[in-house]
Amino acid sequence: MSTPTATHPSNQPALVTGARAARTTIFLKIAMASSGLVFIAFVLLHMYGNLHAFAGHDAFNEYAEHLRTLGEPMLPHTGALWIIRIVLIASLAVHVTSAFMLWHRAGKARRTKYVMKKRTGATYASLLMRWGGVTLLLFIVWHLLNFTIGKVNVTGGPTNDPYNLVVDSFSTWWLTLIYLAAMAMLGAHLHHGFWSAMQTLGWTSTARARNLAKAVGLTVALIITIGFSLVPLAVMFGAISK
Ligand code: HEM
Repeated sequence: MSTPTATHPSNQPALVTGARAARTTIFLKIAMASSGLVFIAFVLLHMYGNLHAFAGHDAFNEYAEHLRTLGEPMLPHTGALWIIRIVLIASLAVHVTSAFMLWHRAGKARRTKYVMKKRTGATYASLLMRWGGVTLLLFIVWHLLNFTIGKVNVTGGPTNDPYNLVVDSFSTWWLTLIYLAAMAMLGAHLHHGFWSAMQTLGWTSTARARNLAKAVGLTVALIITIGFSLVPLAVMFGAISK
């Protein structure tokens, strides 16, 4: 009878390296899950804020101004907004770095262990997560240039009026289409990402917990996609105008 390989002394260094690699993978997955949950909280709040556009020009701009005066006089003007921005930038850095590190590790493991012959459901999901994530990153860069950093008004010059900027932007059909496609991608990313995060955090150990995680993930993804899409659609169909 052969000695089990797991206990053979010559395999010890490989086992130690393997255990260390598994620990790093788990650490990276926890980093992805927690930074992803910060993003989910942010997009839910952001989506709620955007819906103020239905209440008209002044209500929307008052809300945007409120974000800047939040925490005053304890905090300076835009102090709370900067805290939110720093948390978001840190979460984005953690999320993107961990994603690329896990992507690289998965590629290395596949090259050394086996040859992939057939795409499975799991590989489609990871392709969607990876390329969807890259697409969302590009969307965020464009979105910030559009609405925050550059305040790029494609149909007019730069403006400091957030409501007019939103209405002008979504009066341009191709810009609305880009946003709608990005929101569908965001929904798919969140749907799968939420499930992965729950698995990583160990909240899918019973059938009841799995069902709950699936239901919550789907609900959150639908609320975010539909909620964000309402404003561009309302502008496109004339329900929100200047
Ligand atoms: C239809 C969808 C969206 C609309 C209409 C929208 C609208 C806006 C507007 C008007 C601003 C500027 C707010 C201000 O100046 O007070 C803004 C800022 C921002 N948005 Fe969006 N947004 C959308 C989707 C998203 C998504 C999906 C994300 C993230 C994944 C996102 C992330 C941000 C960030 C990080 C800021 C900058 C906040 C700041 O630092 O001031 N947005 N958005």
